[in-house]
Amino acid sequence: MECFLIEGDKPLYGSVRVGRSKNAVLPLMAASILFDEVILEEVPKLRDVISFKKLLEFMGAEVECQDECVIKVEELEPFAPYEIVRTMRASFLVLGPLLARYGRAKVSLPGGCVIGARPVDIHLKAFEQMGARINIESGYVIADAPKLKGAEIYLDFPSVGATENILLAASFLEDETVIRNAALEPEVADLANFLKKAGVEIEGIGTSTLRVKGPIREQKMVWKSIPDRIEAATLMMAIAITGGEGEVNGVCKEHMENVVNKLLQIGVELDFKEEIVYVRGKLPFKPSNIITAPYPGFPTDLQAQMMVMLTQADGVSTVQETIFENRFMHVPELMRMGADLRISGNTVTIKGPSKLRGAPVMVSDLRAGAALVIAGLAARGKTIVRRIYHIDRGYERLDRKLKQLGASVKRVSERELGLEE
Ligand code: EPZ
Repeated sequence: MECFLIEGDKPLYGSVRVGRSKNAVLPLMAASILFDEVILEEVPKLRDVISFKKLLEFMGAEVECQDECVIKVEELEPFAPYEIVRTMRASFLVLGPLLARYGRAKVSLPGGCVIGARPVDIHLKAFEQMGARINIESGYVIADAPKLKGAEIYLDFPSVGATENILLAASFLEDETVIRNAALEPEVADLANFLKKAGVEIEGIGTSTLRVKGPIREQKMVWKSIPDRIEAATLMMAIAITGGEGEVNGVCKEHMENVVNKLLQIGVELDFKEEIVYVRGKLPFKPSNIITAPYPGFPTDLQAQMMVMLTQADGVSTVQETIFENRFMHVPELMRMGADLRISGNTVTIKGPSKLRGAPVMVSDLRAGAALVIAGLAARGKTIVRRIYHIDRGYERLDRKLKQLGASVKRVSERELGLEE
């Protein structure tokens, strides 16, 4: 397995470009099930994109992914196996489109992951309201819907995945579906705008009530998704925490208002000029209190990275995680690097500034991994970040982008470091 070897405590300077959004591209790949051909431009080279490609090919699609992904669909076998779904939960987004297009589907339950149980009850309840018969057998959802119909659906929680799954199914139907308490994340709006361009009538994009009336009229679509707001903020934090100065290109400020506000609050200097943000870190930062929330609240996907920033704040800060029940796996690793953190329920108290020291650390999940990289950049000495395959799921060559900013980051095999496999 590969790891990152980071020599920290060096200010980053220079310019780097953010990629297209992983969490927009994955539902768009699911949407391709409803079309003859979908071309997604500038798709980031991520492990999750490759997993989704494999799933679509397993079902019978023809998928070519270079700089763009070309997905051709004729007849699909509506079956998503556990072996693939368990590696990437977003695979569950194929249920809605398969059900709508084929009237039946057998999709593995995604199962939990390290950050939480991550049930799909909200998805399944909605499809039952749309007329599907749902059975759970040996870890699979067996769904049968000879005649899926539009419905008035209220989501108990503004689930991103459930909103997208229902939106995809509803887009194939001629009668209207209303989704209330829909997720407001920009990635949901991106999917809705894509479907609207394909001829689906959608009202309320960007609001918590979506009115959807299909059918799709264009069978071939070309689309470029929105930039990755989580990658953008991660790169901005990497520059700021090292006391460096630099530019992150290709960002969309309006998708990042909450995290921009928090970074300004703790003393990071940010200047936006169209799609470029100029970042300057002035340490120590000021303390702050973070509470993660559905969009437009503070993104749970930036919770771990922001916690590292707050270790460099002069005072006491808190981070409260309200979305997932176990998203503090980075905390013990950060404490081994010298951070002064204390967990109490769903809140971590951070005392700063603390002198971070390089150490061998282990990545448990995608965003915790990004946080450990940021900590390694700020820490004095050498940090070995292990199990970076988690990071490659959602960041395209993060090591290369950080090297562009002057960071000392090397991608090496554990064998080269004499670490046991
Ligand atoms: C999406 O996951 C993102 N993934 C996640 O990003 C992100 O953290 C999450 O939204 C919240 O913003 C993709 O878009 C591919 P949810 P999703 O359904 O759709 C509970 C990353 O790092 N829930 O909004 O799975 C669930 O347990 C990933 O890029 C139910 O209870 O998120 C969780 O507590 C991690 N029942 C909360 O809602 C359901 O049926 C949020 O889940 C569905 C969800």
